[in-house]
Amino acid sequence: MHKVSVIGAGNVGATAVYYIAEKNIAEIVMVDVVEGLPQSKALDFLHAAPLRKYNVTITGTNEYEQIRDSDVVVMTAGIPRKPGMDRMDLLKTNVSIAKTAAQAVARYAPSAVVIVVSNPLDVIAMVMLRETGFALKRVVGMAGILDSTRFRYFIAEKLGVHPADVMAMVLGGHGDDMVPLPRYTSVGGFPLPELMSADEIEALVERTRKGGGEIVSYLKKGSAFYAPGASAAQMVESVVKDEKRLVPASAYLRGEYGHRDIFLGVPVLLGKNGVERIYEFDLSMDERAALDTSAQAVADGVKLLETFYTPG
Ligand code: NAI
Ligand code: 2OP
Repeated sequence: MHKVSVIGAGNVGATAVYYIAEKNIAEIVMVDVVEGLPQSKALDFLHAAPLRKYNVTITGTNEYEQIRDSDVVVMTAGIPRKPGMDRMDLLKTNVSIAKTAAQAVARYAPSAVVIVVSNPLDVIAMVMLRETGFALKRVVGMAGILDSTRFRYFIAEKLGVHPADVMAMVLGGHGDDMVPLPRYTSVGGFPLPELMSADEIEALVERTRKGGGEIVSYLKKGSAFYAPGASAAQMVESVVKDEKRLVPASAYLRGEYGHRDIFLGVPVLLGKNGVERIYEFDLSMDERAALDTSAQAVADGVKLLETFYTPG
């Protein structure tokens, strides 16, 4: 049986565990620093096993050692911004949490593929890569599947079609500058621009860019977790079952799309080795300019990181 560990038993971590359990593909370990939290959630999930028909072990623990020999590690640990904290304080705290987690992954699960969820996504992915010392393809960020599933849903809702019939591609960093690509979005095989006006598409693109924020504005405290949990679980499944799904995800670039040494959302092939391939599709001048803007925002985040962070 494969083994998947989820670091962080908060909203996203626990939801990811739930969706992974339902796939019946791996034993699961959930780690959190809060005493009793992962244990209680693991037990609660297990109580539902007879009803939901999964038959896998789910262990909640405060000990990183329990992630030993995991095939996949999903990193969701972090803290939300607290009163009095500026963005830099928040970044420093979350980088320090990522360092601890990455060092534990390197020590106990040296063969794992790491799927990073914690924000700021493209920066924390960089920390996880540097601290684990893993091959570039074995660290990948989750954002593109989430951003594209939001876009897919909005399109399906507008057209009144089944959401699974909409395929979409969203590139770039996980921020307001993300780049939904209507030209590479289709409904039942038909290109989106044949089915909606440019203004209608633009409205859905904007809603996608602000998709996370729309949920925060309702929730007030905290952010989305059902769709993020489902997105992480789909990535886990593709790795564990070596499905080789072609999905958008944050990968370390070495010149692809004209960018290097940053994590950026691009189309990847996700299999048992992690990012097995990065696809480069032709982009129009406008699409490329939008991707460059998004990449610059990520590069600025990495610059900020480098003002205080040294690996190790
Ligand atoms: P949450 O606050 O519910 O859970 C975070 C958990 O991390 C808490 O239970 C906390 O105790 C735990 N934690 C803190 N330090 C830890 C450590 N050193 N080791 C293990 N666990 C530790 O937050 P939520 O909603 O689960 O979000 C988690 C992260 O995912 C946040 O950074 C959030 O911004 C990000 N996120 C990213 C998305 C994406 O598309 N990439 C989508 C949604 C959320
Ligand atoms: C989201 O997109 C907050 O990154 C998180 O919902």
